[in-house]
Amino acid sequence: MRLGIISALYEEQQGLVEAMRGPAKLIHGMREYWAGSLWEIDAVCVLSRIGKVAAAMTATTLVEKFGVTHILFTGVAGAGDKTVRVGDIVVAEALVQHDMDASPLFPRFEVPLTGLSHFQPDQQLSLRLSRAAHDFLELDFLDAISEGERHTFRLAQPRVHRGLVASGDQFMDDRERLDGLNKALPGLVAVEMEGAAVAQVCYELGVPCAVLRTISDNANENAATDFMRFVKSVAAQYAFHITRRVCRE
Ligand code: ADE
Repeated sequence: MRLGIISALYEEQQGLVEAMRGPAKLIHGMREYWAGSLWEIDAVCVLSRIGKVAAAMTATTLVEKFGVTHILFTGVAGAGDKTVRVGDIVVAEALVQHDMDASPLFPRFEVPLTGLSHFQPDQQLSLRLSRAAHDFLELDFLDAISEGERHTFRLAQPRVHRGLVASGDQFMDDRERLDGLNKALPGLVAVEMEGAAVAQVCYELGVPCAVLRTISDNANENAATDFMRFVKSVAAQYAFHITRRVCRE
């Protein structure tokens, strides 16, 4: 296995490169790729930046230039449903590009000429990710997240959800728009800006992938403030510990 690990922002992957043994940096297409050994796993870490094109370019490069055999995306997301709360963890069961709409030529959400609107991540890798997320909450959470942080973000008993993740080139901060998406996409648990692009690339290249998201905000009018605070303080702890557990399993 050679594992490619993508995040959009530095804080969503903080500590991983530092934890690498023998890290080597290679710059390609304006991004830094760090190759090395992560808890005995051959890995390549990279920040894609935000958005579907950036994520697709990064995933393609990881496969074509760095020869990764699996891709893991780790980052934060807005809640896609009222049952999903800030601090909860989402492991994607399917991914859709919510801003894809070539109707009336093709059904809404369908990626033209693929016949698909939903892309499935790899079941095995996703299962491994879910187990790592559960273990993080059970075994690391109280040590990793301070009491003050738990209080600030009201992180009482975070849960792990499996479900549909919707990606689009939009920061979602409008309750009505989210309600509309929620109705159009049954099973929606999170909204973000990269996952479905990575899933499409991986589908087309035949590479297994999995997507992990920690909920940073409720995708409503407070989303931008909540997102910034969450990313600045606790997002890195989630990503680091869960990735560590995935690699060591
Ligand atoms: N990532 C984190 N929160 C988000 C939101 N509300 N919309 C899109 N991407 C996000």
